[in-house]
This record gives sequence, structure tokens and C-alpha cells, in this order.
Amino acid sequence: MSHAEDHEGTRRDFLYYATAGAGAVTAGAAVWPLVNQMNPSADVKALASIRVDTSGILPGTQLTVKWLGKPVFIRRRTQEEIDAARSVDLGDLIDDEARNANAGVVDAADENRAMDENGEWLVMMGVCTHLGCVPLGDGAGDFGGWFCPCHGSHYDTSGRIRKGPAPENLPVPVARFEGSELVLG
Ligand code: FES
Repeated sequence: MSHAEDHEGTRRDFLYYATAGAGAVTAGAAVWPLVNQMNPSADVKALASIRVDTSGILPGTQLTVKWLGKPVFIRRRTQEEIDAARSVDLGDLIDDEARNANAGVVDAADENRAMDENGEWLVMMGVCTHLGCVPLGDGAGDFGGWFCPCHGSHYDTSGRIRKGPAPENLPVPVARFEGSELVLG
């Protein structure tokens, strides 16, 4: 396979899309489609971790990247969204667990779901916990967060299920920041 073909395959197969802002997926992430074609086990390894440059994501916008075949929402929240998430009485929540792979089993307080202490960054799998549709973001739904139109599940600005058939909060995947780069996996 020529280098040019490799490059073409990368461009075609590596799907990412931004709903807003100018965030970009860095080169480390773009390597996987090539590996995918050559060796399934190496593919799994390469997919397991990607790096996303978050420096272009403005407050109040969200970048969606594809990771492990699923969308991941990377949202930089406004202070208003953070305040809304943090003022919720935990007794009002349908799912009282944080569902945060980085935090163990803890309650669903927004502080246990956000990536940083100030709560600016929220990273979640963009997969409705009902039957797997991709929820709409940017303030959608009755709670100003995300809304799944498939059967009407409403998530708040912390990605917690508040109304509708979905049983659990949108899960936070294993992730960490290295400077302005978000490492997933
Ligand atoms: S899949 Fe989202 S509400 Fe059913």
C-alpha cells in the first residue's frame, strides 16, 4: 500500500465532526484507520486511546469526536450551565450515580462528573442510555442540556437523565487532560 493510499484511507475513514467551534483531532488519532486495515488487534490497541486538541472549543460549545465507534461529547460549559448543574438537588435525580469511569462509584453531583474542579469541561459518551440514539446537544431538552428525540429522554447540563425512559446518566469515559489535549482512554 502506498503512502498516498494510506493517507486517502485515513481521510476517508477517520470520521470526526464538530458541532461548533474549531476543535481538532490531532495526528495521533488519525493513525488508527490505517492500522485498522492491517491488524485487528493492533486496531483495538490504537483505538483505545486518542488525543483531542480542545484549544479551539469556546465556552458554550461542544466538539463531538468518534471514539471506539461511538460519539463522545466534549463540552466547554458556560458558568450558567455549571451553576445550573450544581444547583440541582440530588434527590431530584433519576440516576444517583455519577457514572464517571474516572471517579469510581460516587454520587451524581456535578462535581463528580466534570473533568475539572471548576466544572468547565464535561466529557461524556454521546449515547442515550435508553436504546443508544445520539442525543441532541447545545441546550436541548427541558433541562437545557441534551435531548434524545428517539423516545424523549431529557438530560441536564451535567448529562444526567432527568425525564424520559433512559435509566442512567450519560457515562463519562476514562479521560484526562494533558495541557489543552484531552486524552480519551
Ligand atoms: S434511545 Fe434515547 S430515548 Fe430511547
